[in-house]
Amino acid sequence: MREQLEQLKNSALPAIQAATSEEQLQEIRVRLLGRKGELTALMKGLGLLTPEERPLVGQVVNRVRDELEAALAIALSEARLSAQTARLQSERVDVTLPGRRSTKGSKHPVTLIIEEVCEIFAGLGFSVAEGPEIEHDWYNFEALNFPPEHPARDMQDTFFVENDLLLRTHTSPVQIRTMLKQKPPLRIIAPGTVYRCDSDATHSPMFHQIEGLMVDTGISFADLKGILTVFTNQLFGQKTGVRLRPSFFPFTEPSAEVDIACVICGGKGCRVCKGSGWLEILGAGMVDPEVFRHVNYDAEDVSGFAFGMGIERIAMLKYGISDMRLLFENDVRFLRQF
Ligand code: DAH
Repeated sequence: MREQLEQLKNSALPAIQAATSEEQLQEIRVRLLGRKGELTALMKGLGLLTPEERPLVGQVVNRVRDELEAALAIALSEARLSAQTARLQSERVDVTLPGRRSTKGSKHPVTLIIEEVCEIFAGLGFSVAEGPEIEHDWYNFEALNFPPEHPARDMQDTFFVENDLLLRTHTSPVQIRTMLKQKPPLRIIAPGTVYRCDSDATHSPMFHQIEGLMVDTGISFADLKGILTVFTNQLFGQKTGVRLRPSFFPFTEPSAEVDIACVICGGKGCRVCKGSGWLEILGAGMVDPEVFRHVNYDAEDVSGFAFGMGIERIAMLKYGISDMRLLFENDVRFLRQF
């Protein structure tokens, strides 16, 4: 058996040295040391030896196995090194070639408007607040003074989730969430995604709004008009100011629709402003005392104003986009213009 072991070693070592690739070496390893390998087969013969012979021959087996493994390891690392060298020699890199520029995306127009509006309001002391897109009926309607069954709910074609959960139809519930967390005075701006079951050239079932809320002692309608004038003049870069028309929202009293002079014709009247010279861009008003009651603010003590605007509409006006659906088709020929 010793002889067989020596023979095995003597024939295996030259084969290992002659092998030139990693694959060949792996094959040799399996052939010698694998489960059905030659050395493994010889080891099975140990059981036939006498108890005196067994440890002696066992030592030889171990030595032969160690030698074969060492020889395989060395040959393997040599084979890898020469393969790598060959690859490096054949693949030459021309460091003088001009680089390949990676194409950079651009920000979505909705993102651009959100960033711009938040920046303008940051300059007026407003900080950004957020709320969930799946909202409780109570925050979306009830606390904003839409009682159950009130017809004002019909104007907001709501996607219901289950029980009293729904997809928020506006960013106004962030007013409630913020007032429940913070005591006055406060000044917040709340951008976010909102949902209504409505879809055509000027409506998308998923769209974006920015809500504003300012509460302090002695806040008046004049403050609202002043802030909105500064804001619209900065956003649209004109000095035409704003026009307020009486309106109704359950959570503000009095309420107003806010118009700016048409950005297309400058107020003369055109197709976009339907000849009126004015464009409606947001809803606003003084916070209704009923809303303050829901968040435990004392309406005798504090007053405030709120406003809400649709981002897509502002983006369409600012960038001259005629169909809202363009904003969500993800056509790069459209998007890369911004
Ligand atoms: N939440 C209203 C809507 O989506 C917009 C709005 C109007 C928000 C008046 C306000 C506000 O904060 O004071 O139709």
